[in-house]
Amino acid sequence: MERKKFLQSLIGTSALLTVPGSKYVEDAYALPEVIRDTNRSVTGSMIGYSDEPIEKVNVGIIGLGNRGSVLLEMFQWLVENDRAEIVALCDVQPKKVEAASSKLANWQTAKPTFYSDKPDDWKKLAQQDNVDLLLICTPWNMHTPMALFGMRNGKHVASEVPIGYSLEDLWNLVETAEETRRHCIMIENCCYNEEELFVLNMINNGVFGDITHTEGAYLHDLRDLMLSDTYYYDYWRLKEHVSRDGNFYTTHGLGPISFYLNIGRGDTFSHLTSMSSREMSLSEAAKDSTAPYKDFKCGDMNTTLIKTELGKTIMLQFDVHTGRPYSRINKVCGTKAVHDGYPSRLYIDDKKTELGHRWLPQELYDEYRQNYMHPIIKKLKTISQGFRQGHGGMDFVMIYRLITALNLGLPLDINVYDSAMWAAVTPMSELSVASKSVSLPFPDFTGGTWKTHDQLEINRVFKDA
Ligand SMILES: NC(=O)c1ccc[n+]([C@@H]2O[C@H](COP(=O)([O-])OP(=O)(O)OC[C@H]3O[C@@H](n4cnc5c(N)ncnc54)[C@H](O)[C@@H]3O)[C@@H](O)[C@H]2O)c1
Repeated sequence: MERKKFLQSLIGTSALLTVPGSKYVEDAYALPEVIRDTNRSVTGSMIGYSDEPIEKVNVGIIGLGNRGSVLLEMFQWLVENDRAEIVALCDVQPKKVEAASSKLANWQTAKPTFYSDKPDDWKKLAQQDNVDLLLICTPWNMHTPMALFGMRNGKHVASEVPIGYSLEDLWNLVETAEETRRHCIMIENCCYNEEELFVLNMINNGVFGDITHTEGAYLHDLRDLMLSDTYYYDYWRLKEHVSRDGNFYTTHGLGPISFYLNIGRGDTFSHLTSMSSREMSLSEAAKDSTAPYKDFKCGDMNTTLIKTELGKTIMLQFDVHTGRPYSRINKVCGTKAVHDGYPSRLYIDDKKTELGHRWLPQELYDEYRQNYMHPIIKKLKTISQGFRQGHGGMDFVMIYRLITALNLGLPLDINVYDSAMWAAVTPMSELSVASKSVSLPFPDFTGGTWKTHDQLEINRVFKDA
């Protein structure tokens, strides 16, 4: 029964209900079949989807903690230029709404509607007539229900990462976006970071030749923040580590890599295998803290390997327990060049007679960095000066791109299928870890359209906006 409940939490509550006997539940090698059984008949019709242009996008934000309050600030330029307005703010803690409201008053004269009486007040915000876009910045377990409810009430939705927990969540999101014709985007800010866009632009210009392998990660020592009694609302992030084990935070590494590899645009994820180390560092740190949780199932380091249909490989890591410098790795290996991040370094194969097997010297690296600066970054460097940028600039670029695409009625850079594919790695890694790293096939959330779609929307520069 325990294993059945575990499988249902990751695959979906309806999963396994119709399966006779216990074969699927007990046999790890039957898991691929269980995953294939989750397939729904989606059409891929939200790929490249454009909606009516919205001259000024009315935004409602749910969750005004660390993330919601930073993202709110990213709207200043857009509000001052009549591209967007914050029309509603919601948080279950009234003090968070008050703080956000006084911040907003510095640059927006119109007052938003506030919601902070009850835990489900966010539904009223999602039903507020003039809201065009819901921005969801709450703890992880609320993202899918909020996004589904938003779309069903006619709103476009943008959710913080990860957008869903189980494969069923992700299928529901894809199906609902297709049915309601509403955009549903998981806002992955690292896709918009200057270094990742520089690598993408080099890929677009053939610097790497044919790509064979990539590595990405979320390696961030979060022990102090997760164990703090004030940083996260009600220890929500720490609780995730108590009874789950896998890669919970896939997208900071995987989002940019998916763009490097044209995932959903001529290639797609084929299968994965995942393994976690034992847990040591978080429980050690918890001993000396006041946090009410002391034992954790999530291993210190999770390593997941993904293979794509065209034979490229991705190594993805997740570790928020170990004391170490921050890294997303950001490695790309191709037939002509290799990039490694943290710090950013470049190796160009045809310079090996001159340089041997060494990274480019700083002067030459700087030339590449200048020559291949992504056009989006070039353009936004001028308009974003003097405004708060968030995470070194990428948060502003992300919100600017989202709102401007809605203003112009253009497809978004990250569609609902990207969102589902990147988030699916979490439940699949948990299933694989719990089943001796058994290899699992990815569901095809695009309904086969990854074979024909070839536009990488993030490469477009909006000409006059
Ligand atoms: N992309 C990034 O760089 C980045 C950075 C930080 C956080 N995040 C993501 O942002 C999300 C929020 O993280 P955070 O650090 O801001 O957490 P947080 O705990 O600081 O904020 C969550 C907020 O949600 C509110 N909330 C809880 N239940 C609610 C309800 N029923 N209705 C309305 N509000 C409710 C809480 O009061 C709190 O203010 C997470 O998904 C996290 O992964 C992303």
